[in-house]
Amino acid sequence: MTERALSATVRVPAKVNVFLAVRGRRPDGYHELVTILQTVGIHDRVRVRASPGLRARHPSHQRASVHFGHDGVTGVPDDHQNLCVMAAHHILADLGIDPVEAGDGVPRVDVRLDKDIPVAAGMAGGSADAAATLLAVNAVLDGGRNREHIQSLAADLGSDVPFCVSGGTALATGTGTATAQVLCRGTFHWVIGMSDEPLRTPAVYEAWDHETPPLEMQPDQVLQAVRTGDPELLGDSLHNDLQVAAFRLRPELADAVDAFLVDGALGSIVSGSGPTVVALAADAAHAHDLAARARERFDRVEVTTSPAGGPSLHRD
Ligand code: C5P
Repeated sequence: MTERALSATVRVPAKVNVFLAVRGRRPDGYHELVTILQTVGIHDRVRVRASPGLRARHPSHQRASVHFGHDGVTGVPDDHQNLCVMAAHHILADLGIDPVEAGDGVPRVDVRLDKDIPVAAGMAGGSADAAATLLAVNAVLDGGRNREHIQSLAADLGSDVPFCVSGGTALATGTGTATAQVLCRGTFHWVIGMSDEPLRTPAVYEAWDHETPPLEMQPDQVLQAVRTGDPELLGDSLHNDLQVAAFRLRPELADAVDAFLVDGALGSIVSGSGPTVVALAADAAHAHDLAARARERFDRVEVTTSPAGGPSLHRD
């Protein structure tokens, strides 16, 4: 019999939206989307540890308290506001374990988050952390939930969370939670320009509501570009309907996109709801060249590639 792991770490990548079309606002306030997401090589780590007695599907009544800690990165919400905590509670309940307050004799689930993905930056940082927590708790407690089941739990936590469970390249529709993997050949080279000042996603969608409805853009060219691994075609066809709303809230982002294009990027775009601005390069050397010129325009600049696979689980 194999010994059950008492702790596991999941390393989870950030995303960029290489295509994002907003089809309209729904009665519940959410927006209908057609988007193509791809993971990039900037990662968070979530480590989950459980008290030895705790086990999914145990015949006797089980309960546990969730304890959250992080590496002190500014802007990460604490405790009950944090998507890691919400994700831990959600999967514990699904595994038949009542999430309760801490107390004597109450088994613990400790969740530790180490961040490199910027907070509230349009790169699905919080969603990636939620996806990693679902996967790690399932592994540590021998939950036996398959990826499809975890994706359905993920959809309750946020629009990008189901994509973050699988990673790679995907087409997402509905509010973003219905995902299908998309064929992607080759590797794309990116420069990621980040700002320390976050942009709240709801504010960007609200700003979009006041814009003229866009033309119904289709993702065909982007799909062809990723299928054939063609950076020129992808650079030409990058598209984000939320960009105009992000520009309205943060006009300097328009200058950042323009500057990348003037410097010779194959394409440049706001990622998701921003404020991160990404630029596509022809190859690694071109990306480093663009990054060197961009450093003074951003708080942080990274050179990376896509797609960056999906979350990877390591049993400690
Ligand atoms: O789903 P998630 O929690 O990531 O979304 C954050 C916010 O972004 C939502 O509360 C909503 O205001 C907005 N949103 C939206 N339509 C979507 C996704 C997100 O209006 N499809």
